[in-house]
Amino acid sequence: MAIILGFDDYLSPAQQLAESLSIPFKQVELHQFPDGETKVTLPMNLPKKIIICRTLNQPNAKLIELIITASAARAQGVEHITLVAPYLCYMRQDIAFHQGEAISQKIIGKLLGDYFDRVITIDPHLHRINNLNEAIPSNQAIALHASSAMSAFLKKQFSQPVLIGPDEESEQWVKAIAKPHQWDYAIATKERFGDKSVAINLESNNKENINKVSLTNRDVIIVDDIASTGKTLEQAVKQIQQQAPTSISIIVTHAFFVDDAITRLTNMDVAHIWSSDSVLHNSNAFSIIDIIAEQLEKLDKTMVNN
Ligand code: R5P
Repeated sequence: MAIILGFDDYLSPAQQLAESLSIPFKQVELHQFPDGETKVTLPMNLPKKIIICRTLNQPNAKLIELIITASAARAQGVEHITLVAPYLCYMRQDIAFHQGEAISQKIIGKLLGDYFDRVITIDPHLHRINNLNEAIPSNQAIALHASSAMSAFLKKQFSQPVLIGPDEESEQWVKAIAKPHQWDYAIATKERFGDKSVAINLESNNKENINKVSLTNRDVIIVDDIASTGKTLEQAVKQIQQQAPTSISIIVTHAFFVDDAITRLTNMDVAHIWSSDSVLHNSNAFSIIDIIAEQLEKLDKTMVNN
């Protein structure tokens, strides 16, 4: 029987995953030395197959610790290691925009492919590639989506909301959430000028043009994969407010909301800010762990049947 290994910075979702799969959970202990290095201590007597569950926001130290954990597990005789990283880091930089820039997606993807037999994540930030295995060279690089959990959660909050995707990329998950309930939706376009500077255009020429859906007196929900600085959401809120909606809410998969992003959005009269537990944050309102558990169960059945 496999076990789940977790870390104290993502403890409760990792324990929930073990519970959903009815397998044991054990914790990897970390000790920070005064010089900044980490001592990693694994439980003993690991089975042949383990699942390491740790999300990869603030990833630099975590990546080193994961590599040490995976190597130490192999030294104990572990033969198959799955990494469950609900948020997968370093996926954005998939080309060199300027001379000399490292393509971190490929480098970190290869590193993960070298150490793990299987990597499972939720809504990775892929821009110019379609499949996660183009970033992680493995036929077991699996990208799942939070949209079914979002859809079920939102259904309990509103009966006929309008969903807004702030950029073309968001169309995939906005559609997936809206279609089962036949909710109205529209996709805006976004121009990014810098880390903290974006412009959102609600009157773009997209096929699902905002002009076809009036936001006046409607409950509007902005849906995105990541909230980092919150500037994308802030600009979307500003544009939507011009159409006098009843309420504006926000739902994202990965909640970073750096600096004072939450305060700024709350001060703009945003009614609700909801996120999944892929990254632990006060806004967490629904879980993606069952989506991962279902996938792991499916994979195990396939392996047994083959
Ligand atoms: C962009 O491609 C993503 O889907 C998000 O819209 C973006 O990462 C959000 O970043 P920020 O909160 O800094 O505007």
